[in-house]
Amino acid sequence: MLKEQTRGAGADPTSLPLLVEGRSKRVYRLDAERCLVELLPTLSSFSSQRHEVVQGTAELRLDFFELAAERLEPEGAVGGRGRARGAGKGVSRVARVVVVSGANRGTGRGIAEALQAAGDLVMGLNRTPCGESWLHEVRCDLRSREAIAAAVDEVARRFGRIDVLVNNAAVRRFAPLDQLSPDDWEESLAVNLSAPFYLTRAAAPHLIASKGLLVFMGSHAGMHFFEAGAAYCCTKAALHALAEVAVRDLRYRGVRVATIAPGAIANRPLPDDGWKLKPRDIGELVVKLASLPPSVMPAFVEVRPGKPLKLPVAGIDLLQHL
Ligand SMILES: NC(=O)c1ccc[n+]([C@@H]2O[C@H](COP(=O)([O-])OP(=O)(O)OC[C@H]3O[C@@H](n4cnc5c(N)ncnc54)[C@H](OP(=O)(O)O)[C@@H]3O)[C@@H](O)[C@H]2O)c1
Repeated sequence: MLKEQTRGAGADPTSLPLLVEGRSKRVYRLDAERCLVELLPTLSSFSSQRHEVVQGTAELRLDFFELAAERLEPEGAVGGRGRARGAGKGVSRVARVVVVSGANRGTGRGIAEALQAAGDLVMGLNRTPCGESWLHEVRCDLRSREAIAAAVDEVARRFGRIDVLVNNAAVRRFAPLDQLSPDDWEESLAVNLSAPFYLTRAAAPHLIASKGLLVFMGSHAGMHFFEAGAAYCCTKAALHALAEVAVRDLRYRGVRVATIAPGAIANRPLPDDGWKLKPRDIGELVVKLASLPPSVMPAFVEVRPGKPLKLPVAGIDLLQHL
């Protein structure tokens, strides 16, 4: 049963990705042309199958109860989800269901865009929906553990699986320790640390089932501490610790865990920040991490801008500033 379609304006209708949600609650993003030529003959294991092609509109309708998806999942990539689109002969890989917190703007948006461009189905857990047609959104204020549980349930209800969770959203509240407000401290703990814990906890059964990938957006701030950074540095350092525990707790159940610890990212357009990492750079990195073979645990990935601003001091003089 065709539930949703993703269509690019002006695109060739025969190569549009179709998003098909079956009664099995699994979701498949299929290339229409390839699907007809290559995929349909393999679907012999539908217990009930009906397909209908509306000539000239590239509309494809599938009505099924169960698909033996492993037939499409020969090897590799997160969740054992088969070959990527265009990766040699054979069927397109099945779209991964990816959840990104804070996908409405900044780095989360770059991650969501890159995954979507790679053929994945991206669900943003967004406090502020951005309304992009290519992005699925569930409204979620990450300060509420009930809202987080409900949002993950909603993703599971709509798509039946989660292959990748990206714990991206965060707040940055900077003030000297004696002036940092209790509200800013509490909010930082809630959004930067507790929310990734609750999100991971809720998504874990799905990630275990899909042999998926769990990503934490860490930060240099979790490794290099600075003035006025109590709320941000502490929550990011603790997030790194949470992620390392996640590696140990989940690896034997097939889940891979990656912490990305970036330096400065141009999360919002500002003059003179061309030297910073771009949100899409981080997105491309997540796509690559999700494509690594299951034998690789990309536990901790530090990323720096290629040409950061030069320090006014260098060499042993640096020690005078510690
Ligand atoms: N920017 C950098 O230089 C940098 C460097 C290293 C690491 N990072 C890490 O990268 C990640 C993204 O950072 P960014 O700079 O791209 O962030 P950003 O542009 O400030 O965006 C923050 C995101 O978090 C969301 N968010 C904040 N509070 C929320 C809440 N209570 N409920 C739901 N969503 C909430 C925001 O949603 P709203 O739009 O609703 O506020 C927004 O989507 C963070 O984990 C950050 O620590 C950033």
